[in-house]
Amino acid sequence: MTRLKDKIAIVTGAAQGMGAAIAENFVKEGAHVIICDILEKKGEALATELGEQATFARLDVSSEENWHSVVTNIIGRHGKIDILVNNAGILRFHKSEDTSVELFQQILNINLVGAHIGIVSVVPHMKKAGQGSIINMSSADGLDGANGLSAYGASKWGLRGLTKVTALEFGPHNIRVNSIHPGGINTAMVNPQGVPSEYINQGFKIYPAQRVGEVDEVASAAVYLASDESTYCMGSEIAVDGGMTAGHYYMTMPGAPEI
Ligand SMILES: NC(=O)c1ccc[n+]([C@@H]2O[C@H](COP(=O)([O-])OP(=O)(O)OC[C@H]3O[C@@H](n4cnc5c(N)ncnc54)[C@H](O)[C@@H]3O)[C@@H](O)[C@H]2O)c1
Repeated sequence: MTRLKDKIAIVTGAAQGMGAAIAENFVKEGAHVIICDILEKKGEALATELGEQATFARLDVSSEENWHSVVTNIIGRHGKIDILVNNAGILRFHKSEDTSVELFQQILNINLVGAHIGIVSVVPHMKKAGQGSIINMSSADGLDGANGLSAYGASKWGLRGLTKVTALEFGPHNIRVNSIHPGGINTAMVNPQGVPSEYINQGFKIYPAQRVGEVDEVASAAVYLASDESTYCMGSEIAVDGGMTAGHYYMTMPGAPEI
């Protein structure tokens, strides 16, 4: 499989969950992946498992200094960066009134400001190369509203906006910026106890897919946007949410599935 042959890719938040699946799928398609995360043991273990085409770098996405040293090292070693996936993120549920300014800022710093720093760190190198693909991991919560998620939702809507603006600014340099909007994917973020899918799926019966999503289903969208198959996608948003943002069923009305 060679859809990303010889590409150099940074994936943030890649020690586990969707980021790890994206790293694995990128490696399968021929890329060299720099697995970036604050979880050193997990990140290093994944890099070892993926072999020569993967390396781990400790990166706190909210730190400009961290970004500077990681990008400088990659350029020193590989000479270019073709792909950036801004995937790192945190989720906290609180009513708006119970969300402290400190917590709000922490969520924005990691989920949104971290992506901004990543973009401005890699873009000079992508401009020099005359091409690049940047993927921002937004959310279904960046397409509609969800109670308890004022800061998280603001960060994911912000990422969607950041995607549009940077797609406009960098498109003429052949740097494509797009967003992915997952919803209900079975990772530690939404299922920390590892509850079996058949139980979780009960909560998904009001949506078209009727089940929780798997990390590889998001990773395949990332492979598409990272690859040269998506050269005309700029500022686009792909919902990978089992139809969650398409709407929900009125269960007793015509057209609803039988359960
Ligand atoms: N799971 C879902 O249903 C879902 C839905 C929509 C969007 N998302 C988004 O997808 C992305 C990946 O989520 P996931 O479900 O795989 O969650 P996860 O918690 O399994 O993975 C998130 C990763 O980000 C890392 N991270 C956190 N703070 C960091 C920081 N400051 N610097 C670097 N890395 C940091 C964590 O260590 C972890 O490895 C997140 O941005 C999340 O908001 C997830």
